[in-house]
Amino acid sequence: MVDDSILLKLENIKTYFFLPKGLFKTIVLKAVDGVSLEMRKGESLAIVGESGSGKTTLGRTAIKLIEPTEGKIVFDGKDITRLNDEKEMRNFRRSAQIIFQDPFMSLNPYMTIREILEEPLIVHGFSDPKERYEIIVKALVDVKLQPPEEFLLKYPHMLSGGQRQRVGIARAMVLEPKFIVADEPVSMIDASSRAEILYLFKSLQEKYNLTFMYITHDIATAKYFSDNLAVMYLGKIVEYGPSREVIMNPKHPYTSALISAVPDPDPNNRFIYRKVISGEIPSAVNPPSGCRFHTRCPYRFELCDREEPKLEKINFEHKVACHLYTKK
Ligand SMILES: Nc1ncnc2c1ncn2[C@@H]1O[C@H](COP(=O)(O)OP(=O)(O)OP(=O)(O)O)[C@@H](O)[C@H]1O
Ligand SMILES: [Mg+2]
Repeated sequence: MVDDSILLKLENIKTYFFLPKGLFKTIVLKAVDGVSLEMRKGESLAIVGESGSGKTTLGRTAIKLIEPTEGKIVFDGKDITRLNDEKEMRNFRRSAQIIFQDPFMSLNPYMTIREILEEPLIVHGFSDPKERYEIIVKALVDVKLQPPEEFLLKYPHMLSGGQRQRVGIARAMVLEPKFIVADEPVSMIDASSRAEILYLFKSLQEKYNLTFMYITHDIATAKYFSDNLAVMYLGKIVEYGPSREVIMNPKHPYTSALISAVPDPDPNNRFIYRKVISGEIPSAVNPPSGCRFHTRCPYRFELCDREEPKLEKINFEHKVACHLYTKK
């Protein structure tokens, strides 16, 4: 039975990169290695984890900018893992948009804001210039670049970092997508405008019932801007659940460490013991055996390097992949 409240379903997605080594050898880098998840329509999901954990690769695979090596992607009830039909591919491209980390790199410096926003409309067959103009003006109002007429003829370099990212958001919005992946959308922006941009995402998401994947290093902001949270480590989800629940009551030692690494602004908490994991994330070419986190885990025991823990429900929607919770 098809559950029509679900927009995106990833089933055991594996995205590997095959890197040539010398003339005859290939190294396999397992950037995403068996991720399953579901996103409800209108849900926001934060993907958090250290650098190299596979967040970007997962986000790009979800919107098919990268083909998965294995697994299945179901979007709006339809298997889109391999789309050969050009029309279906175009429809999907319209429904699923990405917002990049660096708004300066992702906007063509030689195009005006109007041209930048018009381009996807032209590509997707909006032939009436008046209609295009109306859509562009509405998008600029939506992202609070007002009055819109003032921005239409400007070039990206004439805008602040925050304003440029608003253009990036408007460009994703003009096609009325159902699903948006935002990959570290505020990390290159001045700290003073970050919260504003995140609130803008939240308001657009609510207004248009968007389904929103928010990729970030910053687990603290995930609490405010996402319904659910998935913690990734070396290509796998190690903890998943409602954001507040995961942050207030983390189960996986890796999640606890990520939360502890966030400076606490409350001076009363200054002396609370902070568990900080040591060492770097291991290579995705040769991940550790058993639980991939065992080489850095302060709680490891003999089972951990032998057997890989499954992501299992511990209560309601809260899931964890850790032998501390599943051992008998
Ligand atoms: N196009 C590519 N070719 C080869 N390897 C890649 C490619 N893209 C990513 N990788 C590798 O895949 C792994 C996961 O990378 P990814 O960029 O998805 O991680 P991330 O969690 O987004 O990291 P960051 O927080 O630094 O953005 C890393 O080991 C990375 O080096
Ligand atoms: Mg990334």
